[in-house]
Amino acid sequence: MKILSIESSCDETGAAVVERINGKINVLSNVIATSSQMHAKTGGIIPENAAREQIKAIIPIIIEALIQSSTKQAEDLEKSFSEARNILKKDIDAIAVTYGPGLIGSLLIGVETVKTLSFTLGKSIIPVNHLLAHIYANFINIEEDEIKFPFIGLIVSGGHTDILYFKSHTDYKWLGGTRDDAAGEAIDKIGRMLGLSYPAGPEMERRAKFVTKPNIKFKSPLLHSEDFDFSFSGLKAEVMRFVKVNKLDNDLINQICYATQNAIIKVLIKKTLNAVEKFGAKQILVGGGVSANKTFHKELKSQADVKVLFPKKEYSTDNAAMIGAYALVNGKKEKWENIRSNPELYFA
Ligand code: KG4
Ligand code: ZN
Repeated sequence: MKILSIESSCDETGAAVVERINGKINVLSNVIATSSQMHAKTGGIIPENAAREQIKAIIPIIIEALIQSSTKQAEDLEKSFSEARNILKKDIDAIAVTYGPGLIGSLLIGVETVKTLSFTLGKSIIPVNHLLAHIYANFINIEEDEIKFPFIGLIVSGGHTDILYFKSHTDYKWLGGTRDDAAGEAIDKIGRMLGLSYPAGPEMERRAKFVTKPNIKFKSPLLHSEDFDFSFSGLKAEVMRFVKVNKLDNDLINQICYATQNAIIKVLIKKTLNAVEKFGAKQILVGGGVSANKTFHKELKSQADVKVLFPKKEYSTDNAAMIGAYALVNGKKEKWENIRSNPELYFA
């Protein structure tokens, strides 16, 4: 089974071609256009700008993903259009698309493009929940039986911080999530106070590595609560108060990055390990942009008694391959008329 998959829930526009052979998911192409440099100028995403960029990018991105998935290379634009159309018609069995959650303007672009392709070419659509796909990014390039139920799924991205307990693909339970800012959102907002480029996660991680003697500490909110909830707005406020009364220089910015990263990682690990213990989980599957953080990998892997899976970096942050992976493992085909973008989509 070969799938074209589309992701357009936030400021990335992604298209990928993925296939499943003998239970293993292979990524044949994974193309991304991001408007994050534009958002770097405003320090965050302006939804209408993101959607405008996506509408320009989506068709070229789909064409590129289709062409890259095939061994045939088109010599010019005209030929690449017809080549892509042939691949889509002949080789692709279904089209998967993120239908939520996300920004409505952004979601609509992916969903309506896919509906048009489905209507004109008669292809089935597999609607995919973006959050579940972050967890299923871990199914890419591994043997399917390497994943053992029950597992704990941890989603840490710019928009979400959630812990789930999976007994099977269809039987899962949301255990808790953030009460206010998501982990990545706190990182980006604190990054903005420090003058880091947007999104701030990669620079925060890089700067934190320079710190050999940590000399400041921020509180990990809700660290000792029995539930599986998170709260990161207090951390943001604590850093803001600190920044107001201290003169920032390069070393101090590095120290703040270290202390922020540490406070976030600490509570993510504690709650995840609590969930593993409480539910007797066999594995932990992490996903979302913040899961690209290597310090987080190292710490969680060293503290957990069970196997921990993180996606490869290109499948941690928003991408279309993970949408295809979910569709291949657990997707359901839907008639195009029944599919609606759902910005508020959560867990069923
Ligand atoms: O999953 P994602 O690409 O988009 C959403 O669905 O939100 O996550 C983006 C978030 C941003 O907040 C970004 O700062 C964070 O992931 N991020 C990181 C790293 N790379 C990206 N956070 C910590 N360390 C990183 N290396
Ligand atoms: Zn995401």
